[in-house]
Amino acid sequence: MTTTITITGAGGQIGYALLFRIAAGDMLGADEKVRLRLLEIPAGLGAAEGAALELQDGAFSLLEHVEVTDDPAVAFDGADHALLVGARPRGPGMERGDLLAANGGIFGPQGAAIAANAASGVRITVVGNPANTNALIAAASAEGVPTERFAALTRLDENRARAQLAQTLGVPVGIVQRVPIWGNHSATQFPDVSHATVGGEPAADALARIVGDVPSWVDGTFIPRVAKRGAEIIAVRGSSSVASAANAAIEHVRDWVHGTQDWTSAAVVSRGEYGVPEGLVSSFPVEAVDGEWRIVEGLEIGDDARRRIDASVAELIEERDAVRGLGLV
Ligand code: NAD
Ligand code: LMR
Repeated sequence: MTTTITITGAGGQIGYALLFRIAAGDMLGADEKVRLRLLEIPAGLGAAEGAALELQDGAFSLLEHVEVTDDPAVAFDGADHALLVGARPRGPGMERGDLLAANGGIFGPQGAAIAANAASGVRITVVGNPANTNALIAAASAEGVPTERFAALTRLDENRARAQLAQTLGVPVGIVQRVPIWGNHSATQFPDVSHATVGGEPAADALARIVGDVPSWVDGTFIPRVAKRGAEIIAVRGSSSVASAANAAIEHVRDWVHGTQDWTSAAVVSRGEYGVPEGLVSSFPVEAVDGEWRIVEGLEIGDDARRRIDASVAELIEERDAVRGLGLV
């Protein structure tokens, strides 16, 4: 069996970091053959075509076919997975509303093209920013595609949170679990350590031995570091995260398809869980079961967590209202 994967913005930085790992089997497994469809705008076609030549030169045994196009109908034809990476970055003098409108012009038509052309079981992962609201726009335009097939990437935020905890505690990151991200993929996100475990022990106990006052470390150091990590990367390397974002997207899709061992994070369409208004694309703790994201329910939410979730959800509501005002959802 061969899986068809469409990558938008495939000529860009994240595209370049994604393609070769997908072709090598990192996303779907060492037995799954893949067909890649690379969608670009005309200005990006050369870069995508160059990547396609290099894919050929990689002689990947799992890679059956690569196609480069600027036509969304061709790109999404028969797609089992769509990774929506290409987005319009904020330019000089652009207001938030301008950015949302520009991205609406991308994600609306792409949602419609997915509905018209993709495989019936298509799963869509939105990476391009503002990822949650771009996913909302695409889902609203994809008539007939169940909204639970759309997710926006917050796995990178979770990986950042787990890595910060591991570094602080001096433990391997693999034993740090249950650090969900709530809300928006933005600086308002809430990385939640209250359920975290380290080698099975509550993280709060391990943290108390190292940092002493856990709540003030969480508020003053941990949350701002994780929530502003995207900006920190931009400041240090001069452009936004690439390989870590591609890695997170690969882990997200791999888990969606093959299932999770424990909680992870993804921004999915709310059905009202944890008081998040129905229809918003918000990050939650999730598990993947039988190819579906399921929100982990029944968690205790303390007052501080409630306040932080509400603040990030308020930003998502603002974004939704802005795109609603533009007739995009
Ligand atoms: P990039 O500018 O290097 O590449 C983007 C590519 O998208 C460009 O080649 C461009 O030509 C293409 N593109 C633009 N409009 C398109 C359209 N309508 N159809 C197809 N392709 C189109 O940017 P990048 O570094 O690859 O980042 C891509 C996006 O991912 C950005 O929006 C970035 O902010 C976002 N991002 C998200 C996360 C996350 O965790 N969710 C992390 C890092 C970056
Ligand atoms: C990231 O999280 O690295 C990206 O979404 C870039 C950004 O603007 O934060």
